[in-house]
Amino acid sequence: MSQPTIAAKEPKVIELEPGTYYWCACGRSKNQPFCNGSHEGTDFEPVAFDIAEKQSVALCQCKHTKNPPFCDGTHDSL
Ligand code: FES
Repeated sequence: MSQPTIAAKEPKVIELEPGTYYWCACGRSKNQPFCNGSHEGTDFEPVAFDIAEKQSVALCQCKHTKNPPFCDGTHDSL
């Protein structure tokens, strides 16, 4: 398995409305932290996740979190 591209060494904190979202796992998307189709041709697939209630979340942009799509602090050790 190849390594993902580190889009940023910090999470993106954003408020999301209820709905389904696709987190970029490859790190190549220009629409971080969301998928824009740039994973095509790589080993990566986006991670779908559901937000039930409007809430603020910290989404991983380093792509090395063990708890995708959420930041787990791993970016501090990269
Ligand atoms: S941004 Fe990836 S673990 Fe924090």
